[in-house]
Amino acid sequence: MKYALVTGCDHGLGLSLASQLLGRGYRVAACRLNREETQIDALAKEHPDQLSVFSVDIGRDGDVRALCEAVGRTFPYLDLVINCAGILGVMDPGPDGELDYDLMLRVFNVNALGTLRVSTGLLPLLRRGRDKTIVNISSEAGSIADCWRTGWFGYCMSKAANNMQGALLHNTLRQEGGQVIQIHPGHVATYMRGHLDETASLTPEASARNVLSAVLDTPRPVRERPWFLDHLGREMPW
Ligand SMILES: NC(=O)c1ccc[n+]([C@@H]2O[C@H](COP(=O)([O-])OP(=O)(O)OC[C@H]3O[C@@H](n4cnc5c(N)ncnc54)[C@H](OP(=O)(O)O)[C@@H]3O)[C@@H](O)[C@H]2O)c1
Repeated sequence: MKYALVTGCDHGLGLSLASQLLGRGYRVAACRLNREETQIDALAKEHPDQLSVFSVDIGRDGDVRALCEAVGRTFPYLDLVINCAGILGVMDPGPDGELDYDLMLRVFNVNALGTLRVSTGLLPLLRRGRDKTIVNISSEAGSIADCWRTGWFGYCMSKAANNMQGALLHNTLRQEGGQVIQIHPGHVATYMRGHLDETASLTPEASARNVLSAVLDTPRPVRERPWFLDHLGREMPW
C-alpha cells in the first residue's frame, strides 16, 4: 500500500491532487486549512477507507506538530508528501509602490517556512516509507535565473526560498534513497487571487494530472541536485 499526504486540499490544485491520488490507489491524508470548506469532506465520504482529512495551518508550529502526531497515529509510513498549500499575498507592482512587509512576512511564513515545517515534521514517517519523496508545488515565480517581473516581491521571494529549503532537504533525503522534487504547476484557474482566475490556461484537474504524471509516471532517478520541473515534466531554470 502507498501512503501520501497533500496540503492545501480545501479546493484548487490540492483538492485535485488528493482526488487523483485516490484514483491511483494511494491512501491519502488530505490537509485543509478551513473547516468550512466541505469539498474534501464530500470526497472523504465517497472514500472512507482511503481518505483521511486533517486540519492544519502550516504557518503555526503547534498546528504542524499536532498534524504530524495525528498522521503518525493513522498512517504507518508515508511514501509521498505533496506540499501544495500556499498564498499569493498581493501582486505588488514594483519597488516604487507601497510594499506591505507584514503581509510579505505572512506569505514567507506559509510558502517557505510552512512547507519546511511540514516536511521536517513528517521526515520520520517518510523515512519509514519506500519512496521517501517530497514534492513541493513551487512556481516559475520562484526562479531567480528566469526572473522577469518587477514586483510580486513577497510571492516570488517566498517561492525562491521554497526552492532553497527543498534543495537543502534533498541533500539529506538523497543519501537515504529519497528525494525532493520542486514543480511549477502551470497557470491554474483557482481562487488564489481572491477570485477565479479566468486568464489561466489549466483547470486544477488538468494541472494535477500533469503534475502527478511528471513525478510518478516518468522515472526520476535520484540526482545530486533536485529536479525542478514544470507540470509537463520539463526542467525549469533555478
Ligand atoms: N494557480 C496558479 O496559477 C499557480 C501557479 C504557480 C504555483 N501555484 C501554487 O500552487 C499551489 C496551490 O495553489 P492554488 O492555485 O490551488 O490556490 P488555492 O486554491 O488558493 O489553494 C491554496 C490552498 O492552500 C491553503 N492554504 C492557504 N494558507 C494555508 C495555511 N496557512 N495552512 C494550510 N493551508 C493553507 C488554501 O486554503 P484556503 O483557500 O481555504 O485558505 C488552499 O487550500 C500554491 O502553492 C501556489 O503557490 C499556483
